Amino acid sequence: MDIFRAAVIGCGNISSVHFDALKKNNKCVIAAVCDIIKERADKKASEYNAKAFYNIDDMLEWNQFDVLHICTPHYLHFPMAVSAMNKGKHVLCEKPPAIKYHDAVKMSECAAENKVHLGVCFQNRYNAQSVYIKSIIDSWELGDVKAVKGIVTWDRRDNYFNSDDWHGTLDKEGGGVAINQALHTIDLMQWFAGSDIESVKATISRKRFRGKIETEDTADAVFEFKNGVTAMFFGSLCFAENSPVFLEIICEKGKIVMYDELNIYRNGKEKETVTFKKASGEKSYWGSSHKLLIDDFYGALSEGRKFSIDGSEGSKAVKIVNAIYDDAENNNVINGG
Ligand SMILES: NC(=O)c1ccc[n+]([C@@H]2O[C@H](COP(=O)([O-])OP(=O)(O)OC[C@H]3O[C@@H](n4cnc5c(N)ncnc54)[C@H](O)[C@@H]3O)[C@@H](O)[C@H]2O)c1
Repeated sequence: MDIFRAAVIGCGNISSVHFDALKKNNKCVIAAVCDIIKERADKKASEYNAKAFYNIDDMLEWNQFDVLHICTPHYLHFPMAVSAMNKGKHVLCEKPPAIKYHDAVKMSECAAENKVHLGVCFQNRYNAQSVYIKSIIDSWELGDVKAVKGIVTWDRRDNYFNSDDWHGTLDKEGGGVAINQALHTIDLMQWFAGSDIESVKATISRKRFRGKIETEDTADAVFEFKNGVTAMFFGSLCFAENSPVFLEIICEKGKIVMYDELNIYRNGKEKETVTFKKASGEKSYWGSSHKLLIDDFYGALSEGRKFSIDGSEGSKAVKIVNAIYDDAENNNVINGG
C-alpha cells in the first residue's frame, strides 16, 4: 500500500483537525509543516516529528512530500494550490477553494493538467444528517425538491476579528459570513437542490460590526437553480450563540427539516424524527466530519478513484457567493460604515 507524505501549510486553528486526522490515518505520514509564524511551525514540527518550513517556496523546493493541506487565510488558497499542483502535488484545500469563482475554476483546470487530485474541505457533506438527507432526496421517495431554506445565526465578537490580520478584510478573507462561516450551508443547499445556480438576489450588511470590519456580518439571499428549485438563505454573526444550522427542504411529497434533530414529513404519514449523536468538542457547530473527509481523500488517492468534492464540486458554493456579492454590490444594497 502506498504511504503518502503529507505537508500542512498554515498551523492555525483548523490545522489541528487536519493534523489529528492525518495522525490517525495509516495511509499517510506527516512529513512537513509550514507557517510564516516560526513558533507555530516549530511547535507542530516537534509534535509530529516533521520538518518545519516558514515559507511555501522553501517547502516546494525541498519537494519531499506528495500531498499539501492548505489551511491558510482565503486569499492564499489559489496561489498556493496552483504552485503545489504545478509541482505535481495533490492538494486538499480548506474552504473556500478561492475567493473568486474564476480562480476556483482555474484550480480545477490546473489539477487536471497536472493529473493530480484537488479536494475541498466541505466536511459537512459527510455529517450523518447530510448523508441521510441526500439519500432521501436521491431515492426520490419525496419526489422532486421544490425549495430549500438555510439559516446560520452565529455569535462573533470583536476578539474574533482582532486576533489576526485577515478576518474582516476584503482582500484577505474576500467577504464575511457568506464566504466564511455560512459557506458550508450554502454548499449543502446547492448539493440538495442538485443543480447549477441560475440567479441570485441578495443583500449584505454590517450590523454588530458596523464601522469595525470591511466584510459583511449579515447576508440574505434568494436563489433560483437551473432545475427550477428556489432557495432562501440568511446568515449572520450577530446572534448570542452559535445556533445549530437550520435547513428545510420542501419536496413534492413531503419535507425535510434539520435543526437539532432531523424531521422527515411524508405526506399522509407520521413524521419520522431522527436524532444523531452530537459532535463533541468546543467547535461542534463546525460539524465533526473532517476526519471522514480526509480519510476519504486518502482513500481516493490510494485507490486512484475520483474524490467526490473535487475542484469542480468545491467551486459551486463559491459561484453562489460571488453572485451574492455581485448582486448586493450592483444594487448598492450594502449599508453601514
Ligand atoms: N472547514 C471548516 O469547518 C473550517 C473551520 C475553520 C476554518 N476553516 C478555514 O481554514 C482556513 C484557516 O482558518 P483558521 O481559522 O485556521 O485561520 P488561522 O488564522 O487560525 O490560521 C491560519 C494560519 O496560516 C498562517 N499563514 C498566513 N500566511 C501564511 C503564509 N504565507 N505561509 C504559511 N502560513 C501562513 C498563519 O500564520 C496562521 O497560523 C480558512 O480558509 C478558513 O475558512 C475551515
